Amino acid sequence: MKKVREMLCKHSGVFVLSEPLLFQPLDIRGVTLPNRVVVAPMCQYSAEGGYPTAHHTVHYGQFALGGAGLVIIEATGVTSDGRITNGCLGLWEDGQADALRPIAQFLKNNGSIPAIQLAHAGRKSAMQRPWHGNGPQTEEDQARGDDIWEPSAPSAIALDDGWLAPKAMTAQDLKDVRDAFAAAAVRAMNAGFEVVEVHMAHGYLLHSFLSPISNHREDEYGGNLEGRMQFPFSVIDAVRDVLPGDFPLFVRISAVDGIEDGWTLDDSVLFARALKARGVDVIDCSSGGNTAKPTALGPKRGPGFQAPFAARIKAEADIKTQAVGLIRTPQLAEELLQNGSADLIALGRQLLYNPSWPAHAAEQFGAAGNFDDWPQQYGWWLERWDKSLQAMGETAQPQIGDHYLNSRN
Ligand SMILES: Cc1cc2nc3c(=O)[nH]c(=O)nc-3n(C[C@H](O)[C@H](O)[C@H](O)COP(=O)(O)O)c2cc1C
Repeated sequence: MKKVREMLCKHSGVFVLSEPLLFQPLDIRGVTLPNRVVVAPMCQYSAEGGYPTAHHTVHYGQFALGGAGLVIIEATGVTSDGRITNGCLGLWEDGQADALRPIAQFLKNNGSIPAIQLAHAGRKSAMQRPWHGNGPQTEEDQARGDDIWEPSAPSAIALDDGWLAPKAMTAQDLKDVRDAFAAAAVRAMNAGFEVVEVHMAHGYLLHSFLSPISNHREDEYGGNLEGRMQFPFSVIDAVRDVLPGDFPLFVRISAVDGIEDGWTLDDSVLFARALKARGVDVIDCSSGGNTAKPTALGPKRGPGFQAPFAARIKAEADIKTQAVGLIRTPQLAEELLQNGSADLIALGRQLLYNPSWPAHAAEQFGAAGNFDDWPQQYGWWLERWDKSLQAMGETAQPQIGDHYLNSRN
C-alpha cells in the first residue's frame, strides 16, 4: 500500500495518479476492455424459470452506467437442474438468450463489455435462496412454489447432513452436461455476450470434480489429480471449440478448498497451466465453497485476502488473473495491478454498495474529468452541478479511498 501511496499526491481532495493501471484498457483476444474494473458474478435469485426479470435489467445496467469495464452476469445454469436455486438464470433454451440480449446490448451501449458465467451447481443445486436460509430446501420453500430435484455430482456424497443426496453421474450424464455447456456458450454468444466465464469454483459441479473431497470416482474422471481434472478439461475443450478464436474465455476456480486433504494452491497452478494450453485466457481466483462448513484452514478474511492466489497463479502459470475478494478501495485495486498480482480487479459487494465506484475511483485518481466518462444523460448536468458546488466551496468528490483505508478496511 505504501508504494501506491507514494505515487499519489493529494491535490484538492483528488489523488492524482498519472497513469493508473486500473483505467488502462486491456486487450484479451479480439476484445478490448475499456478498464480493469470487473463486476464479479453475483446471483440475484430473481429469475423466473431461468428467465431474467426487470430486476436483472436494472441491476446489471447500473454497473455499466457506473463505469465498470467488464460486467459478468451471475452463475447461469446450463441445464435446468444445474441451477443453484429456483431463482437462478438459465441458458438451456434459446428463449433465454433472447431475453438476455437486451441486457447485453444495454451494457455495450453504455461502454461495458458484457460477460456471462456459465454454471452447473452439482450437489449444491436445488438449494434455498440465501434470504430463505441458504441451506437445503425445506417444506416452506416448496410451499412458496420452489421445485426440488435430484442433484448430480461426481460421487453420491451429500454436501453435508440434511442436504440432498446427489446421484453419481454416468458417462452419458457427463456427455450431456459437457454438451450443455457448449450449447449455452453458443447461446451466450448469440445473445451478444463478448466474454464467457466457466464456473469451476465454490463447490459447484466442476469444482466438485476437481476436489478429492467430493470426487471419489474410480473411472477415468476420478482418482489422482490428472483424473479429477479430466471432466473440467472436457467441458473447457467443448466450450473453446464452439467459440471463435477471438472470443475470450475465463475460468473461475476456488484456488484452495481450505479443507485438510482438499484441493491446494499447487493443484491450482498445475490446473491453470493446463487450462492456458487449452485456450483459457484468464483465471478468476476465488476460494472455498466445497462444504457447508468451511473449516479454520480457509484463508483469513481481510482486504484482498485471495489476491495472493491470483499472484502465484499469474507468476507460475504465466496466465492473466483476476483478483477478487474484499477489494474495496481504488488504492488497493491499483496496488494489486501495479505489483503484478493480477490483470483484472473484480468487485462484488462494494459495487452493490456503490455501483458508481469505477467512475468515482477514476475521478479520485484524476483519470477522469468533467464527468466526460459518465453517461451523457448524467454528465452534462453533473459538470455544471460540480461547478456550482465548487463556487459554494463544496465538492462532489466522494471520499472512497482514505475513508475506508483508515476506518473500514
Ligand atoms: C449476492 C452475491 C452473489 C454471488 N453470486 C456468485 C455467482 O453467481 N458466481 C460466483 O462465482 N460468485 C458469486 N458470488 C461471489 C462473488 O463473485 C465474489 O467472489 C465475492 O462476493 C467476494 O468479492 P467481494 O468481497 O468483492 O464481494 C456472489 C457474491 C454475492 C455477494
